[in-house]
Amino acid sequence: MYNEKVMEHFQNPRNVGEIENPDGVGEVGNPTCGDIMKITIKVEDGKIVDCKFKTFGCGAAVATSSMVTEMVKGKTIEEAKKITNKMVAEELGGLPPVKMHCSNLAADALQKAIADYLGEKYEVEDHHHESE
Ligand code: FES
Ligand code: FES
Repeated sequence: MYNEKVMEHFQNPRNVGEIENPDGVGEVGNPTCGDIMKITIKVEDGKIVDCKFKTFGCGAAVATSSMVTEMVKGKTIEEAKKITNKMVAEELGGLPPVKMHCSNLAADALQKAIADYLGEKYEVEDHHHESE
C-alpha cells in the first residue's frame, strides 16, 4: 500500500517532539476519530529554522508530518505558507488515495503554526473525512 519513501519516513520519522518556547504552535484535530497533530516552529529572521511534530494519527500522518518538517526548514514564512498537503504527498512519491486526508493534518497544523506566529487566524476546513 505504501511506497518505500513513505515507509522510511514512518519508520524513522524526523523531528518528532516539541520545540521549547516555540514562535508558533499549530494544533489540529479531528473530533470524530480523535486524530491529533501538533506542530511547533522556531522562526529567525523571517525563516523557519526548526520545526517539530507530535501526532496521534496513523502511519500516513507520521510520514507526512515527518516530510513536512523537513520541507519547511530553511524556508521563509512566505515560501512555507505555500506548502499544501498535495505537495507533501508528491514529495513522498504519492500516498494511497484513501490516505490523502491524513496528509491534511500535517499541512493544516503547519499553516496554523505559521498563522499563530504571524498573529493571524487560520480556519481549518473540515476536509478530513470527505471520502469516509
Ligand atoms: Fe482521523 Fe482521518 S481518520 S483524520
Ligand atoms: Fe487519521 Fe490517518 S490520520 S487515519
